[in-house]
Amino acid sequence: MCGIVGYAGNREALPSIIKALHKLEYRGYDSAGVAILGTELNIFKACGRVSSLENNVPTFNGKIGIGHTRWATHGEPSQINAHPHTDCSRRFAVVHNGVISNYQQLKEELIAEGHRFISDTDTEVIPHLIEKYYGGDLEAAVIKTLNILTGSYAIAVIAQTENKMVVAKNGSPLVIGLGSKENIIASDIPPLLDYTNRVICLDDGELGIITQEAVKIYKNGRLIDKPVSIVDWNTEDVQKGGYEHFMLKEIHEQPKVIRQALLNYNSAAEPIIGSDFMGNKAGKGLLILACGTSYHAGLVAKYVIEDLLDVPVRVELASEVNHRERIIPVANAIAITQSGETADVLISMKKLIDAGCSTLAITNVKGSSAARLANQTLYMQAGPELSVAATKSFIAQLIEMYKLILMQPALSEPLKTQLVSELKLMPGYAQWVLDHEDQIRDCANHISPYSNVFYIGRGINYPIALEGALKIKEISYIHAEGYAAGEIKHGPFSLLQNDTPVVAIVSKDFTYEAMITNIKEIKSRRAPVIAVAQEDDHYIEQLADRVIRVPNMHNLFSPIVNAITLQLLAYYTAKYRGCPIDFPRNLAKSVTVE
Ligand code: F6R
Repeated sequence: MCGIVGYAGNREALPSIIKALHKLEYRGYDSAGVAILGTELNIFKACGRVSSLENNVPTFNGKIGIGHTRWATHGEPSQINAHPHTDCSRRFAVVHNGVISNYQQLKEELIAEGHRFISDTDTEVIPHLIEKYYGGDLEAAVIKTLNILTGSYAIAVIAQTENKMVVAKNGSPLVIGLGSKENIIASDIPPLLDYTNRVICLDDGELGIITQEAVKIYKNGRLIDKPVSIVDWNTEDVQKGGYEHFMLKEIHEQPKVIRQALLNYNSAAEPIIGSDFMGNKAGKGLLILACGTSYHAGLVAKYVIEDLLDVPVRVELASEVNHRERIIPVANAIAITQSGETADVLISMKKLIDAGCSTLAITNVKGSSAARLANQTLYMQAGPELSVAATKSFIAQLIEMYKLILMQPALSEPLKTQLVSELKLMPGYAQWVLDHEDQIRDCANHISPYSNVFYIGRGINYPIALEGALKIKEISYIHAEGYAAGEIKHGPFSLLQNDTPVVAIVSKDFTYEAMITNIKEIKSRRAPVIAVAQEDDHYIEQLADRVIRVPNMHNLFSPIVNAITLQLLAYYTAKYRGCPIDFPRNLAKSVTVE
């Protein structure tokens, strides 16, 4: 999604802005641009990567500037549609993340008043409105403009005649880093870490005035005091650290992520949400909301909660919930979101909160919108995740859910003790998978020429089949379907022949026999089968064409090792196919529009 940055300080703004834009590349984008306030307002934009902007931009001097990475929504990716946008007199420059829903009507009115538009974007109305309302005071013109905009935005504005940057937010994220004699703003925390770990998260309806010396935040025209948060991420966390891709680095960080999350874990302690939240309050059960990979974490949690706590759980795609006319009443909901900024999740959370529902957010980003919206927040401890494909955040989500569930008083003490000691073995098992990467790389080599692949699983590993398919399709561009193994014969069988490999997750639990039958059925259609199976499963070798081994363990936690295995399978398949792994086409890390 679009990323915005802005700098006001004692250094040259251009290199600071370019560096910050590189740190936002992980969000996904198709063009980039900068505006630097020097003796005049200089704007330069380029299609493609930030490096193309960097290599071609003239040397603009100035200590205040804004920058943008654009993920096209209104108008194709092009230099003209790239931000910053400006007005007729080129006195104002604006970068924007979000969607202005009433832009068409505003544009027609402005054109009738004589304004000339050059782009297809919704954003371009903003500088024209500022131009229209400007009477010598930038913030007054911005406020008047915001009053007539509908939709979502995080914006940064600079003006030729004013030594400051004005920022505002409604629905899209914006954080402000407080440095020493310099201040920087961005859509996310990584660009700030080169300057400071002291940040202010702007809330909806707030406006900030940023200069080299000061950051002032206003709400409804009144100066307010905003809390400053200290971010515990550092610059190494947002570098590749010798790995070829962020995704591989993040996959390899998983044993550490799990270990850290389990450090000092005490299942006897009071859980952040107790049985009244997790329980079957008023017979309405529990709702879990999420999108994409986080949704798959919610599906795993459903199996665990229903099996261990006997509580019915509904897991819903947030993108569906937020478009339902009627919200089915629910007392408590858990929103799972790595970024904490996914628009669909935030909208559905708001709907539920308005309907009287109590919400818990499980998120990776301190001070994110989901964290601020929810009644309670549980922070997963994954550290910054920069590859577009979610890996360590998925595992961190699972661990937080396991921890929460195993703290519930409804579980007997002996079962808790047994499961907690099994859970504590997981860093070692995750490391085992990484230490046996070669077998996965071989299978990736085998899969890479195919155009279609199926992933099947049963029970608690059915969501992992969905996740494995999502991962490979997003980064290797192979068409992949995740299926509940028992459903294959209800339709997809017509597609299975020798050119469609099937990755089968074979759990050593009560689903084993059924899975073996499914594999035999698939083999008789001559589709190649790659089984992901435990070390002690020797029978599987007689059936599958290839076997990827995972360590023997309690089945409840097997989604962790199976998911890591399938992350590596997707990674190496994409690598064999020469794909841009960290920045898959058309995708964005943080999906801040509906
Ligand atoms: C897939 C992926 C996406 C995200 C989804 C939700 O690898 O990363 O499917 O899981 O966009 O994002 P969050 O968790 O930030 O709400």
